Amino acid sequence: MKWFGLNRTRNGLKSKIDWSSHLPKHIAIMMDGNGRWAKRRGLPRSAGHYAGMQTMRQTISMCHKNGIESLTLYAFSTENWKRPKDEVDYIISLVSEFVQETNVRELNENNIKVFFIGDISKFPEVTQQAMRKVVDETEENTGLKVYFAMNYGGKSDIIQAVRSIVKTKNEEEITEEEFEQFLYTGNNPCPDLLIRTSGEKRLSNFLLWQSAHTELWFTDEMWPDFNEELLYASILDYQNRKKRA
Ligand code: IPE
Ligand code: IPE
Ligand code: MG
Repeated sequence: MKWFGLNRTRNGLKSKIDWSSHLPKHIAIMMDGNGRWAKRRGLPRSAGHYAGMQTMRQTISMCHKNGIESLTLYAFSTENWKRPKDEVDYIISLVSEFVQETNVRELNENNIKVFFIGDISKFPEVTQQAMRKVVDETEENTGLKVYFAMNYGGKSDIIQAVRSIVKTKNEEEITEEEFEQFLYTGNNPCPDLLIRTSGEKRLSNFLLWQSAHTELWFTDEMWPDFNEELLYASILDYQNRKKRA
């Protein structure tokens, strides 16, 4: 499936952005509203997740084309295991689908580097293998960094960092800067802009530490309806806030 090279710009928000300064380098997205999108159409929730996956691909492409450096996508939270097993299994199967050969080839053609954040050891072995494969196969790429948050929770991120840091550092060596290195996000700079779709205005256990200084941007659109105009609207808003600051 071809998912790069889409051009969905319909009006002129792109031209209103000053592309020379005050741009977000790292965008994080809470891709919420797949279920409600499907329900409104009389479709099963799985149809919403499938549509959301297509939107996710397009969003990676949009960020790539617009020179964003890092994109973190909240795809599956530590709380999402509480959903019905069928739904959980379907979301996990979409991940396996995403890391198919053709997609990996396109990621490589576009110089995109993939990471996973979260405890992926809880996923089926075959899924973990597919995740490791895409990470390995895109390792040399130097363009857009895409972080998939899978079985990610901000609280468990902090706990795993605490467990690691106390093994290697003395109490007096533990500073904010040092601690940050032990989080799943490691050296990657914290997000500048965090987008949540679907009208909800919660962090839902996403990047709790990392979003300490992040600009938050919300839209009522459901995730499958996210598009280039909304991305530009969020960037423009971010830029205006930063220029005022
Ligand atoms: C977000 O959409 C996708 C995941 C959490 C995996 P939801 O499935 O939460 O959709 P709503 O919020 O029920 O509409
Ligand atoms: C947040 O959405 C998690 C993801 C987008 C993966 P949820 O729909 O799971 O969060 P809550 O339940 O509304 O807080
Ligand atoms: Mg939701």
